[in-house]
This record gives sequence, C-alpha cells and structure tokens, in this order.
Amino acid sequence: MAAGRAFLGAPCSSLAAGARRLAFASPLPRTLTPALSCGVRGRCIASASSSPDAASSPEPYVLTTPLYYVNAPPHMGSAYTTIAADAIARFQASLHPRLQRLQFLTRLQEKNVIFITGTDEHGEKIAASAEASGRNPKEHCDTISSSYKMLWADLDIEYDKFIRTTDRKHEAVVNEFYSRVLDSGDIYRADYEGLYCVSCEEYKDEKELLENNCCPVHLKPCVERKEDNYFFALSKYQHKLEELLTRNPDFVRPSYRLNEVQGWIKSGLRDFSISRASVEWGIPVPNDTKQTIYVWFDALLGYISALLDDGEQASLQQAVDHGWPASLHLIGKDILRFHAVYWPAMLMSAGLSVPDTVFGHGFLTKDGMKMGKSLGNTLEPKDLVERFGADAVRYFFLREVEFGNDGDYSEERFINIVNAHLANTIGNLLNRTLGLLKKNCKSKLAFDSIAAADGSLFRDNIENLVDNAKHQYENLLLSSACETVLEIGNLGNLYVDEQAHGPVSSKGDLVLILETMRIIAIALSPITPSLSLRIYTQLGFTEDQFRVLRWEDTKWGGLKAGQVMSEPKPVFARIETETEEDAQASSKAAKGGKKKARSKGLVEA
Ligand code: MSP
Repeated sequence: MAAGRAFLGAPCSSLAAGARRLAFASPLPRTLTPALSCGVRGRCIASASSSPDAASSPEPYVLTTPLYYVNAPPHMGSAYTTIAADAIARFQASLHPRLQRLQFLTRLQEKNVIFITGTDEHGEKIAASAEASGRNPKEHCDTISSSYKMLWADLDIEYDKFIRTTDRKHEAVVNEFYSRVLDSGDIYRADYEGLYCVSCEEYKDEKELLENNCCPVHLKPCVERKEDNYFFALSKYQHKLEELLTRNPDFVRPSYRLNEVQGWIKSGLRDFSISRASVEWGIPVPNDTKQTIYVWFDALLGYISALLDDGEQASLQQAVDHGWPASLHLIGKDILRFHAVYWPAMLMSAGLSVPDTVFGHGFLTKDGMKMGKSLGNTLEPKDLVERFGADAVRYFFLREVEFGNDGDYSEERFINIVNAHLANTIGNLLNRTLGLLKKNCKSKLAFDSIAAADGSLFRDNIENLVDNAKHQYENLLLSSACETVLEIGNLGNLYVDEQAHGPVSSKGDLVLILETMRIIAIALSPITPSLSLRIYTQLGFTEDQFRVLRWEDTKWGGLKAGQVMSEPKPVFARIETETEEDAQASSKAAKGGKKKARSKGLVEA
C-alpha cells in the first residue's frame, strides 16, 4: 500500500464494515465440539465456503484483562494490566462494525478486535468490604465499578466491552454453563474442610502457607472452613490438560510460567469446590438456592458473557458465537492457576473451545512487595495521571517493566525516563526540526519524503527498526517495542547532530527527519496515543486522518511535497522538580508544603 492511502479513508469504508458485519452475524458452528479436537488454536470455524463473507471477515481477536475485584478502588497494579491490554488492543485493532464509538479509535492492524475488561463483584470478600463501607453490596459495587471506568477514561483506555458479574446477562450465562458442566457429569456434592484465604478467595494447601497459616500473597492468616459444597471434577481433566500444553506450548506465556503450570498439573490435580453455603452475595446454584456459585466459577464466565451485546438474548451459545474463544487473556501471575488449569478444564467440560494464550505478567512492587489493596502499599494511578499525564504513565510502566517480570516503582526513575525519552528524544527532535522548517521553508515541505530519502541508508535503518517494533508488539514484548521506537528517535537526533556543521537545514534533510517523526508517531501510538496525535497534527494532518491509520502507514513515504506543517509547539512537557529555592518559596506560601515533581504543561515547556 502506498503510504498515506489510509488518509483517503479507504480501509474503513462503510462497504468494508458492512461486509464484516454480515460475516460476523452468520451463525457458524464455532463451538460444542470437544476443545482439543479443534486443533491447537481450539477454533472450530466452518469452512470459508459456507459463508460468502467469511473470506473477507477478519478473524476476531478477543483479548481480556482480569475482571477486577470491587473490594476497593483501582490502584496502579490493576491499572498496569489494563494499560498493557489497551496497547495490545490498539496495535491489533481494526474497526468493529457494531460499535460506532470505535470509529474514533486508532486502528493499526486489519483485525476485528474485541477488548474486554470489567469488574468481579460477587463473593465473601466483596460482601465484607460493602459492609465495612456501610453500603449494601449492590450500591458498593456500583460505586467501585464506576471508579474503574473513570480511571480507564483518565488513562486513555479504549475498551470495547465492560462486563460486571452482577449484570443480568452474565448471571444467565453462568447458569447455563453450570448446567452444561452438570450434564457432563463433572459436578458432585461433598464435604470439604480446609484453610481458606478470603483475599484470594481460594482454599490453600498447608504446604504453600507461611508461618501461622499465613497466605504468602496477602500475608494474612487463612481461616478454617468446613462446608458441604458442590465440587468440579478437575482431576478428570489431568490428561487433557497435559495434552493441551504439549500441543500448544503457547497456551501459557511467558514460557517460564508454562513450566510452573506443567509442574502443578504433573503433581496431581484436586477437584475444587464451586459453591459456597456460607456466602449469600453470589449467583444461586441452579436447583439449590441454599448455596451460591463460587466466585471464580462465576467470574471466569465474564470473559464469555461480555461478548453479548446489550439487550440481546442472554444465552451462552449466543455469546460464544460473537467471538469465543479468546485470543489472549492477560493476567497477573497470582491468578495463573485459575486461568491456566481450572478455566480450560471448565471449558472442556462445557464443550467449549479453550483460549489461545494466557499471558501471566509480573507484579508492580513497592520496596519489593506486591503492590496491593490488601497490603495497603499502593500507588495512586489517578494522582500520577493528574501530575504527569496519561502518556507518561502508560509509557513508563510499559517501557520500564519487562512484560512478564516484576518491576519496582521509583519517582526519580519515572521522571528521568519520561523526560529523557518523551520530552528530549522525541519532543525536542520534532520541535527543533519544525523550527528549522519554519525558518528555511516557511513550514512547507519542498520534497516528497520518498525523493528526500533516495538511496539513503538512513531510510533502510528506520525501516528495519519499524519491522522489529512490529515483531515485538506481536510477541507482547512491549518494553522492547518502546525501546525500538526510541531507537528510531535516536537515529533522527544523531542525523541532525552529524549534520550540525553541514547543511542540516537542507530542505531534504528536514523532510527526512519529519518523515521519521511521522513514523514514530504511528509506531508509538499504541503506548502513547495522545502524544502521537499531537505529533501527527503538528505534521499537518488532521485528527480524522490520525484515527484511521494502520500499521502499514509506518512505511516510508507518507509526507508529500507541499504539505504545510504547524508552528513548532512542544508536544510533551518536561517534568520539572522544584529547586531548593522553589521549595522554600512554596513552603513559605503554604507552610509544610512538600517538594513535588510536576509536569509544567505543554504551553510553558
Ligand atoms: N477478580 C479476580 C480476577 C478474576 S478474572 C475472571 C482478581 N481480581 S484482583 O482485583 O485482585 O486482581 C486483578 C488483577 O490485578 C490480577 O491480574 C492481579 O495480578 C493484578 N494485580 C493486582 N496487583 C498487582 C500488582 N501490584 N502488580 C501487577 N498486577 C497486579 O484477581
């Protein structure tokens, strides 16, 4: 594709959208076949010839974050998964015909992306936090669930579906799923006695606990529980799970977490209880309203019920037909067992396909401990966004923490990285080049960028880096993708510096650097969508043109002779820490005032 074609709006014509809609609505039998017989990807799509639209319909790419507990408002740990998911969704996304809102999003790949997030609202832990806050459970859930939605808006998170496990459609799907598993003969009744961690909502093996039966994650003692419950026959699925992991090692990523999961399965799987007699705040067990469904046997189903459109008939099959199985579940490593062992076995029991991949990332830590609501050592994402902006927060955590590993937060490091990368390498390069363009060319390009780069090694280097970044995004190497895009910026700066005593202001050189900026804006847009938009509009494009960009548009050649660029205006404000004098002055003004770092705002920078 010629770079810039998307600017004409071709990829999102209503015709293309219409074709996708037809294909999407066609009732193809995608499920109710044993999961493993569907091949490694577990998809059971009818042959393309059965639907005239199937060939033109992009395969849905369903990705999910965990559904967050509403025991407390979100913290930076919860935001981390969602930021990563949003970046991946933006990279993978194409227009989804049924959601008008999405026409305003940046879409970089020709795929039909459905990005699911939501809140997990049932169970003992939530009931207890509602009581502690003096609200009834429903009011409590409404309040906390909307605080998640507000934070996602602050962080530029563009989800497609937000499911609450108290939604009616979700309850209907859970009921149907339970009945299917019952029909498979995988549910039985028994007594259970053991140690329960309320924060994990999980019975624990004594051998995994610390002193005084403390949970290693929440550092709180587990409580003795004895109950008459319904059980799921997980042990029956040992062999099928082993087979799944052998046939599809990408089912669990990164690969070191696969080893962990294989270890659990090898050591033997115990059936687990899927109902609670003592918990009222939950979905009643079908045919036994004295018990409620165990919160995990309820919440995991949110990944499927979320696929239902509002107002449509709430049936499991209907939800599945909208895009199950998921391509990617993004989760933290603490909930790997639920997603990589319990969940696929539950799906197999219900005759549904298993997801393609479960990716378990690491923890954001503070002083080496998992940041969390239970430990009370959290970092406030809202505060960070207010002080530094969403782009800085998104960039820092995705760049700084290798996706999969743990990462510690330090404000000093945050400021250094964001200033060096976004304000200096990217922001200044654009600013000084636009300044020269204004001075030497009255802000108008003298050449097409193709002509300006004729025979240039510089262009080859940039193109190689763009290919690397694409590969890294595809493989969820988000930190490396950031690094590669920054490398493009470094090459641009080096080019300008090397020409410092030569004709740096030559009209061709300026086009070369501005084309580089255009490519950076697209390649970094999954991570820093607002910054990318600001860069793009300074290059003389409109916001609408930005919204329809595809990854393909990173190809060299988007800038054309005659294009008029904006006046140079800083696109990213440096974060300034107060000097001693500032601190003294402000503490005089407001006694006891603390030294703070703040972004100075775009106009002043
Ligand atoms: N409700 C369950 C998930 C059900 S999914 C069907 C749950 N909720 S949670 O709110 O406790 O955690 C949600 C996610 O946030 C988990 O993936 C967890 O790993 C993640 N994080 C919570 N604290 C975190 C950090 N400090 N760092 C990174 N992620 C962390 O579990």
